[in-house]
Amino acid sequence: MSAGVTVRVPAKVNVQLAVGAARPDGFHDLANVFLAVGLYDEVTVTPADGLRVTCEGPDAAQVPLDRTNLAARAAIALAERYGRTPDVHLHIAKDIPVAGGMAGGSADGAGALLACDALWGTGATRDELLDICAELGSDVPFSLVGGAALGTGRGEKLTALETGGAFHWVFAMAGRGLSTPAVFREFDRLTRGTDVPEPVASGALLDALAAGDPDALAATVSNDLQPAALSLFPELAAALAAGRGAGALAALVSGSGPTTAFLVRDAKSAHRTAEALRASGACSAVRTASGPVPGATVL
Ligand code: C5P
Repeated sequence: MSAGVTVRVPAKVNVQLAVGAARPDGFHDLANVFLAVGLYDEVTVTPADGLRVTCEGPDAAQVPLDRTNLAARAAIALAERYGRTPDVHLHIAKDIPVAGGMAGGSADGAGALLACDALWGTGATRDELLDICAELGSDVPFSLVGGAALGTGRGEKLTALETGGAFHWVFAMAGRGLSTPAVFREFDRLTRGTDVPEPVASGALLDALAAGDPDALAATVSNDLQPAALSLFPELAAALAAGRGAGALAALVSGSGPTTAFLVRDAKSAHRTAEALRASGACSAVRTASGPVPGATVL
């Protein structure tokens, strides 16, 4: 059997997601403050006779195994650029919730790209890889770089951010997924006829990240997609209330949802809040993780 390459890629939570009005191309300008957290997918690539995708993990049945999978699209995009055929088997060990608002699909795209790049020895520069990531999807560049970053444009133009320490989180998974385009469409519907301001990163939030201060971060987190996610998935209100009741410093929908994210003070509070959320029955699974953590990494 030929040797493969395995890449580990983290999930993300958006500590700020400011959304502007729909652009002529249908996308929305964002001020998107990403934090990579320690929940991971692993993508393993091995040489094969043709392109094949397999997936294991609790949500594996919901993952498309055809060429719509971002991992497959990443392999195809890199192969095209370097004049090769994408004859690889991509295996995804999936731990990030599917369609959960934690960039699980983007993680697999960035992971497959880095893994194929290492397997094929293309010599692509970091900037070339980031360009391909941006073609694959708005959140894919961040999955490659990890840490903490401000995403502008449609979220793909990244500026790395300083963080003064680890932030501890509890994540509550919902029983079903939400489609990101559907949530943005609902945002458009809810804001129709209103003056949607230009999205800007909050200075107080960036200061809180830089200081590593969870109380200050809790006071400044925000997600403009939250009303749209709640409109499409009203049961999320119960999960948010359960986390607040369990002592979380802040409760918000992660990205386009439906995963809900709870910022807590430390690992001990994370454990306590997770137990209370499990007991509440308001979610299907509960996980704890902290961040920032590095982006896609060859193991
Ligand atoms: O970039 P990505 O393919 O992940 O985006 C998925 C969908 O989310 C887009 O087709 C669009 O409907 C919506 N989106 C948006 N504005 C963004 C990012 C995503 O409207 N900045």
